Amino acid sequence: MTSTDTLIIEDRASVRVLTMNRPDKRNALNNALTQGLVDALHAADRNPGVKAIVLTGAGKAFCAGADINEFGGFVNNGDAANAAQAALERAHLTTNLHRLFSQIETPVIAAAHGYAMGGGAGLALACDMLVAGESLQLGYPELKHGIVAAIVMANLVRQVGRKTAFELVSLGEAVEASRALSLGLANRVVSDERVVDTAVAIAERLATFDGPAMAATKRLFHRVADLPLQQALDVSLDTNMMMRSFRQERTNDK
Ligand code: COA
Repeated sequence: MTSTDTLIIEDRASVRVLTMNRPDKRNALNNALTQGLVDALHAADRNPGVKAIVLTGAGKAFCAGADINEFGGFVNNGDAANAAQAALERAHLTTNLHRLFSQIETPVIAAAHGYAMGGGAGLALACDMLVAGESLQLGYPELKHGIVAAIVMANLVRQVGRKTAFELVSLGEAVEASRALSLGLANRVVSDERVVDTAVAIAERLATFDGPAMAATKRLFHRVADLPLQQALDVSLDTNMMMRSFRQERTNDK
């Protein structure tokens, strides 16, 4: 368990808490923080002692999205080839991060207060559950910078209706915690002071369940969410049979 300059990693019993730690920059996602999150999520998922993960941000905000200054550096450093290569590598890193939440078997709960903008909104929604602090402002302001809410769009359109998703990425107006709750984007709204403890309490409840059953539940959830009904029922059948035989083996072992 190694914290870095940009990410604090701490264990509360079997819950690992990851705190994005660039409060002066509203936890904007530079390369170091993005890579740190990828590494930390992989490490937590590989650790059998970690049963659930909480992701939060230090200071006044959850996360202000992509580090705009770093982005400017990619395109303005006068070396077009290197800039293009750096931008490409960064796009892959960001995509890998957003992909990872649905690939790892450990459930992840976001504890988000203050601003969750662009990539920060994307991170909050990529988590399996979201506990919102009352001050949450979640939005996609990319168009205001002349860019596209690109990598974050895939998750957004899967989590709210199309009209709402398009409104969010086109108008760029942030939604408050109460609206996030009513849209089904958040699971709970609590005071900012209680946001991390509430997320940890939910994570602790998840941690009490059988690990392989929880992992299979998350894996199946993400598969059926994106499949046509007949195929979704087929993979559900496979999981059902696998879990029955698994339970039987464990009963026989006793
Ligand atoms: N990238 C890099 N730095 C950022 C940043 C980002 N996405 N968001 C905020 N910061 C920095 C600011 O530049 C400022 O740094 P400074 O003190 O060195 O000048 C610091 O964080 C605080 O920002 P500030 O705007 O004063 O904080 P605030 O609490 O008043 O407002 C936000 C917070 C998130 C509403 C505002 O900073 C903002 O709109 N950020 C951009 C969000 C965005 O467009 N994200 C999508 C990027 S594609």
